[in-house]
Amino acid sequence: MKILGIETSCDETSAAVVEDGCHLLSNVVASSLALHTISGGVIPETAAREQLRYILPVIEAALREAGVPSLNGIDALAVTRGPGLIGALMVGVETAKTLAYSFNKPLHPVNHLAGHLFVNYLDAAGRKPTPPLLFLVVSGGHTQLLIQDISGRFLLLGETLDDAAGEAFDKVARLLKLGYPGGPGIEKMALAGNPQRFSLPRPMLNSDNFDFSFSGLKTAVLRLTKEGTFNFTATETADLAAAFQAAVVEVIVAKTVRALRANHLKTLVAGGGVLANKALRTALAFECEKLGVRFFSPLPSLSTDNAAGIAAAAFFRPNPTPWLAVRAEANLSLSG
Ligand code: KG4
Ligand code: ZN
Repeated sequence: MKILGIETSCDETSAAVVEDGCHLLSNVVASSLALHTISGGVIPETAAREQLRYILPVIEAALREAGVPSLNGIDALAVTRGPGLIGALMVGVETAKTLAYSFNKPLHPVNHLAGHLFVNYLDAAGRKPTPPLLFLVVSGGHTQLLIQDISGRFLLLGETLDDAAGEAFDKVARLLKLGYPGGPGIEKMALAGNPQRFSLPRPMLNSDNFDFSFSGLKTAVLRLTKEGTFNFTATETADLAAAFQAAVVEVIVAKTVRALRANHLKTLVAGGGVLANKALRTALAFECEKLGVRFFSPLPSLSTDNAAGIAAAAFFRPNPTPWLAVRAEANLSLSG
């Protein structure tokens, strides 16, 4: 079964064709990122307008790359219906509805976070996570730990009380003049940095719950950069980037390990843009190995927003819905 996935929840416009939930035939991603670099963050109206510009060419390119001559060769459509920026979401949702109606194809609305989970099923070798499992999602909009039980339902264990982890990377990168999005710039600088030079807090590391908080960490970085002694030399910037990344990784890994232990879970699935970070992936893999936990994390190129995970989610969790009933929802949650 070939599913065309469509994802437009933020600043990426993506379309992908996935066969039987695990064979990736194409995954095209256009991004309005360059426009947001100037402002250091996503401007919702700009993102929506750019979605409109890209959506049809991106779908055409995804079909072409998959070797599918037209939508008649597709069995179903899947589209992100939330959470995300409402204007951006509506572009994908309304396009998918129009195509589903015109070509008389089933339409599956998908939760964006489910896409970050099911992208881990895109393994032609057939390695698949099976619930019960712990799902860690760390992106620009979300930082959550959820349990997926054997019936497939999600239970929210904890989440960030303020900034998402990716958002913290973006804000700190802005302070350190490392561009947008912040994650890749900080990761690159951190490679050359000494994480011990600056001492940063580990917010909520020892709190008796699975929640996170990253805004204090950003404030601590702000305070350091405002001190007269910080001159933004390459070495100072690298050391502060390394200290920040180490703090974020330590907190995320510690809470995840605690959640696995407390709930006797033997599978960890991770997803979201911050998983593109090698230090985080390596630390999670190391801890899972020690605990005898099966660890799934996407390739860096599939960690950030893409439609491949949306198509895979529709295959493994089908949700065919009459096109007229499909609506974009900015605050959609995975745990109901
Ligand atoms: O999942 P995603 O593409 O979009 C949302 O659903 O939010 O995640 C984007 C976030 C951005 O905040 C970006 O800075 C972060 O993922 N990110 C990274 C890296 N690459 C992207 N964070 C840390 N290290 C990276 N290499
Ligand atoms: Zn995302």
